[in-house]
Amino acid sequence: MRSFFVLPFLAGLAASFPLHEQQPFSLQEQPGDKVNVSLYVMSRCPDARLCENVFQGVIQKEGILDKINLEVGYIGTPNTTAPLGVTCKHGLIECIGNAQQLCLYEHLPIDKAYAVVQCQNYPSDFPKSIGYEESIRKCIKTVGVDWDQSGVGRCIERKIKSKEEEDDVEIELKKLGKQARKLLIENIQETYDRNITTSCTIDIASTVRSEGKRRCVVDNGIWRGCDDGHTAQDFIRVIEEEYKNLQSKKDE
Ligand SMILES: *[C@@H]1O[C@H](CO)[C@@H](O)[C@H](O)[C@H]1NC(C)=O
Ligand SMILES: *[C@@H]1O[C@H](CO)[C@@H](O)[C@H](O)[C@H]1NC(C)=O
Ligand SMILES: *[C@@H]1O[C@H](CO)[C@@H](O)[C@H](O)[C@H]1NC(C)=O
Repeated sequence: MRSFFVLPFLAGLAASFPLHEQQPFSLQEQPGDKVNVSLYVMSRCPDARLCENVFQGVIQKEGILDKINLEVGYIGTPNTTAPLGVTCKHGLIECIGNAQQLCLYEHLPIDKAYAVVQCQNYPSDFPKSIGYEESIRKCIKTVGVDWDQSGVGRCIERKIKSKEEEDDVEIELKKLGKQARKLLIENIQETYDRNITTSCTIDIASTVRSEGKRRCVVDNGIWRGCDDGHTAQDFIRVIEEEYKNLQSKKDE
């Protein structure tokens, strides 16, 4: 799990992942690798919710998780004067929500982490409760994950003394765990360095297409650049095609 989500970011994936190179088959992939899939989102963004919902169908497809390296990147701006070191489009509470979700991806199997995010996305008052610890705690329970034993609790929360006059967001900020803060800064910096600014962006690394990747974006509810389609079945088909090509190279 760790290697899927964190190592690519820590290792400075941008250098080995030339998004804008135009030569055919330019990725220096190891033959037989899995297909690199990146989802770029913001926790309080309706377009991200739409993408995550479609992608749920991909993740649930039997056997697909053995064929992909999935990473989730959060979109924001590094900012040394901001309380968490980054600024998020939908405010500080979104930064907190992003950090909490990164703890899920860090500590849980992808399907479990994803189920918790889906649970957070589901309520009709979305995105109102995103970023509030009580809400993610409820969803973790719904999915059947143990807050303490999984390691998620320790990542998300630290013990604090709060004053009564503090507002909700201030309390959530104080409560946010050390690991969550670290994951947030590293993850947002990496996304920022890759120049990804639209939530949601779905990148599927390609050895079949000359651009080296297939990019599909949802912006204000509109899908753009999704030449191979944008249903779960379309993404699955593309992943299978890419995976098959990678394996055939391995056999050469
Ligand atoms: C996937 O990304 C990793 C970097 O994390 C890179 O080393 C590898 O070559 C990529 N694989 C493919 C098939 O694109
Ligand atoms: C950086 O953070 C500070 C404090 O939150 C904020 O006032 C400022 O607008 C932010 N700058 C950018 C470029 O987002
Ligand atoms: C991001 O944009 C900057 C400035 O345009 C450019 O120098 C840099 O190479 C881009 N990075 C990536 C990963 O595309």
